[in-house]
Amino acid sequence: MDEFVTLIYDGKEIQLPMVTGSEGEKAIDISRLRAETGFITLDPGYANTGSCLSGITFMDGEKGILRYRGIPVEQLATKSSFKETAYLLINGRLPNRDELTRFSVMLNDNSLVHTDLKGFYQNFPRASHPMGILSSMVNALKSFYPELDTLEEEINITMTRLLAKVRTMAAMSYKISRGHEIVLPRPELTYCENFLNMMFDTPVTPYEIKREVVNALRVFWILHADHEQNCSTSSVRMVGSARVNLYAAISSGIAALWGPLHGGANQAVIEMLTKIQEEGGDCAKIVQRAKDRNDPFRLMGFGHRVYKTYDPRAKIMKKMCDELLESMQITDPLLDTARELEEIALKDPYFIDHHLYPNIDFYSGIVLRAIGIPTNMFTVMFALGRLPGWIAQWKESTDDPKWKISRPRQIYTGNQEYDYVPLHAR
Ligand code: ACO
Repeated sequence: MDEFVTLIYDGKEIQLPMVTGSEGEKAIDISRLRAETGFITLDPGYANTGSCLSGITFMDGEKGILRYRGIPVEQLATKSSFKETAYLLINGRLPNRDELTRFSVMLNDNSLVHTDLKGFYQNFPRASHPMGILSSMVNALKSFYPELDTLEEEINITMTRLLAKVRTMAAMSYKISRGHEIVLPRPELTYCENFLNMMFDTPVTPYEIKREVVNALRVFWILHADHEQNCSTSSVRMVGSARVNLYAAISSGIAALWGPLHGGANQAVIEMLTKIQEEGGDCAKIVQRAKDRNDPFRLMGFGHRVYKTYDPRAKIMKKMCDELLESMQITDPLLDTARELEEIALKDPYFIDHHLYPNIDFYSGIVLRAIGIPTNMFTVMFALGRLPGWIAQWKESTDDPKWKISRPRQIYTGNQEYDYVPLHAR
């Protein structure tokens, strides 16, 4: 049965259709609002705006639920591989054995990068941030693969190419930044093992692949694989809506993710924890600062637009962080600071009233440090994990028969019309 909400204004009434999602989420369809009333809606930051119908990821911020294609993220983090999760997100269902094998073969076949790319990396200024480099290089990939990307088969290859090559490119970028020889991908290694080997293997010290490290990376990437219409994913969809190629759309997602309020928070958390330690370790003082309305400082790794309870990903990340450090017999003083900070913040009335809990970035940096990833590459690690989600969301939006270019409106608050005054008369 069709349901409607009634909008009453200026003595008139209009019926706006109600939309209900498969988990009971409700929305008002305002697509005819302007045509019928002349009004637009105003929703800064889109906090109340659904930009699309999507069947990829479900999250309930009040209950702390996250599911990819219906499967709880907790189950995937325990039982699935990153490759299988990527397949699930992109194709909408778990692969059977043959499909997974074919996908693995395709990833291996596409994992090498053109040697000319090396020259690009070498010419970035030394101070370049890895996220700026990654965003530029993913865009540059289109020049190496100028196919039209219109046929389904071409699109499938482009999607696989991105998953396979961006991983190689990230490791290659790190090696070049250190002045080391590039390590090529090895087909006998898993997706996660290959990345670690390309990052850390050297002719002098062969990389020893440790089960717990591979597992930590697997979980890290699965937890980051998608998160519905966040800032970077919305960028991918919005840029993609102009029917730009997939490389350019993903490049825009990487640029958005770089920001410290989004994926860049994982780097910002470690910088914050380090600073707390350097300044004597007073966590209570930093929590006090975060509450001060006259101070723009925020507790990094805390708070979320959607989660008003503990981020389910942060729960898994925290547990995994403890287990990893214990099994590797690592003592990281930043972990003690993080725990103390969390304890103080979670008891504080400001954080309780504002529903501010640790998000995924709060403990993820400590995991990445234990794996050996340099701090300025943390957000690149997030981007590698988020690739399947961005690809799935781009695919879903481009497959949508009701696809429209994204073009929000505004309420103009500038000057009303006035006449140009020539320079000599001003
Ligand atoms: N520290 C202190 N106060 C905070 C924090 C924080 N980390 N986060 C939100 N608040 C407060 C705000 O000051 C505001 O208070 P007020 O209502 O009294 O003015 C209230 O909580 C709501 O904050 P908004 O900024 O309106 O919330 P929004 O949903 O727009 O922002 C965001 C969400 C950007 C994540 C925010 O919580 C934040 O800046 N967190 C720190 C950065 C961070 O960790 N980002 C990673 C997010 S996860 C991800 O993208 C992968």
